[in-house]
Amino acid sequence: GAVELGPYRHFMQKEIFEQPRAITDTIPGGDPFSPKLFGEGAEEVLKFIDSILILACGTSSYAGQTAKYWLESVAQIPTQVEVASEYRYRSSVPNPNALVIVISQSGETADTLAALKHAQTLGHRHTLAVCNVATSAMVRQTSLSFLTRAGTEIGVASTKAFTTQLVAMFVLACTIARLHGRLDKTQEASYLHQLRHLPAALNSVLALEPQIIAWAEEFSRKENALFLGRGLHYPIALEGALKLKEISYIHAEAYPAGELKHGPLALVTEAMPVVTVAPNDALLEKLKSNIQEVRARGGQLFVFADADTRIVNAEGLHVIRMPEHYGLLSPILHVVPLQLLAYHTACARGTDVDKPRNLAKSVTVE
Ligand code: G6P
Repeated sequence: GAVELGPYRHFMQKEIFEQPRAITDTIPGGDPFSPKLFGEGAEEVLKFIDSILILACGTSSYAGQTAKYWLESVAQIPTQVEVASEYRYRSSVPNPNALVIVISQSGETADTLAALKHAQTLGHRHTLAVCNVATSAMVRQTSLSFLTRAGTEIGVASTKAFTTQLVAMFVLACTIARLHGRLDKTQEASYLHQLRHLPAALNSVLALEPQIIAWAEEFSRKENALFLGRGLHYPIALEGALKLKEISYIHAEAYPAGELKHGPLALVTEAMPVVTVAPNDALLEKLKSNIQEVRARGGQLFVFADADTRIVNAEGLHVIRMPEHYGLLSPILHVVPLQLLAYHTACARGTDVDKPRNLAKSVTVE
């Protein structure tokens, strides 16, 4: 066939390892924060809008949830994210000054396309598609678009499409920030540097695979797992739990770590692994106390910590250290070990990784 597996066992694994290349291809050359990259008339629209509504399904909706943090912190644009199948069927209050963004790997997901058309019917004129397929219905239906360059994604569980969507949304946040006068030159240079360095940073994360395989052995014997994250890593925890569910059939749930005490703590026993995304950011101290709450109940913690965090292996506490701390772009790095954990857990359980039961790559019917 045209697409070969090469040294990989499954397309999902191949696609996980393609991420440095996919991200390199997605980051625009030259000035990556130029509104021109979003199509004709983008400058006027992106300057004019006062809020953003993101519509998407599945993994793409988690890219939207992550992007909300960037759009509100970097561009300071109020942003709402809604699952497409909910938005299309409820009465909502349209804002003609809002930009409606659809995020979709395929550009053909029925619910997302219908949600877009619904928004247009309500009077939304400014629409943008972030999509991996240039000829797709969503790209045709929106006035602006940005193409991710992930290349064909075959594994049903999305991996490289997700990280390239994150790159696209970060680029968009910076573009809007600049147009609204909210990005100073030093900050811009630093974001640009971090973007360009991402593929190298990702390669170091991919090198953690042997350590993750060891964890996957343990996970493969579990029937439940809890994922915790805070701030812009909460959507990454959601994505980690979704990946594990989709391909290993282990029931997994994600919680913003601060909500632990409001319910999921009741489930924590030694039979329940708790995966924690623990970047060294402003919320680390709070996260550490969430970790203690789990340990005190005999829970088994699996922590993806940043290089410079002082969380160390101990009884009931397993730590994999990420190669470097990556600031605002950290979600793009932190999702990769979660993809690998789901992948190797599924392999250990012998499931059909590339074609999980009951799921489809592109859901074009309701
Ligand atoms: C399906 C796929 C998911 C994907 C979702 C949205 O459920 O299995 O991997 O995230 O559709 O697809 P889209 O093409 O719109 O991103």
